Amino acid sequence: MNGELFPPVAGEREALGRCAFVLRGFALPYVDALLPAILVIEQDAPFRHMVTPGGFSMSVALTNCGALGWTTDSRGYRYAKIDPDSGRPWPAMPAAFDRLAREAAQAAGFSGFEPDACLVNRYQPDSRLSLHQDKNERDYDAPIVSVSLGMSAVFLFGGHERADKAMKVPLYHGDVVVWGGEDRLRYHGVMPLKEHPHPLLGSQRINFTFRKAG
Ligand code: SIN
Ligand code: FE2
Repeated sequence: MNGELFPPVAGEREALGRCAFVLRGFALPYVDALLPAILVIEQDAPFRHMVTPGGFSMSVALTNCGALGWTTDSRGYRYAKIDPDSGRPWPAMPAAFDRLAREAAQAAGFSGFEPDACLVNRYQPDSRLSLHQDKNERDYDAPIVSVSLGMSAVFLFGGHERADKAMKVPLYHGDVVVWGGEDRLRYHGVMPLKEHPHPLLGSQRINFTFRKAG
């Protein structure tokens, strides 16, 4: 794993498991297309702090694009075609998002990935995401493709039990993590974000999580 002193080199592929990889800098060529597309999405479906079934407001703000959007409220976690705030379908998935997700999946060994959901997470300093499994999707054959933009973060990649020790993986602007196959249900999360403003995105980190949900 890379230490803080030696930031990784774009183009490197680091294995976190037999079917889990960090693709360093894989999203960099897409950034010019991704950033304006985020602004279009948030005009239609603004970032919001959703409430978990346990009654806590998430420190991460989120929105979605694509046919299905991940939501949570007091009744539970689920995918929905309609944005509960606007009553309208989620914004369409921009072509650059779709292409990035498919190409990253392919580069990690998962051909034929067809994402129908993109959760867009926005982290600000101190935002965190506790360890969880992605298991609201209909089947687990397709991988998860997760893109990092803006401030760096420490991604936690654990095992199949919540108590398993998690690897600490620093993620930088442009990195993509892909996990599937035998690693598809591994616990993961994000440590509280430290304030190191990013030249393009300032004091925030944006994460896209692509899934085949329906
Ligand atoms: C997630 O698990 O939904 C997001 C992971 C990340 O922000 O890197
Ligand atoms: Fe997740």
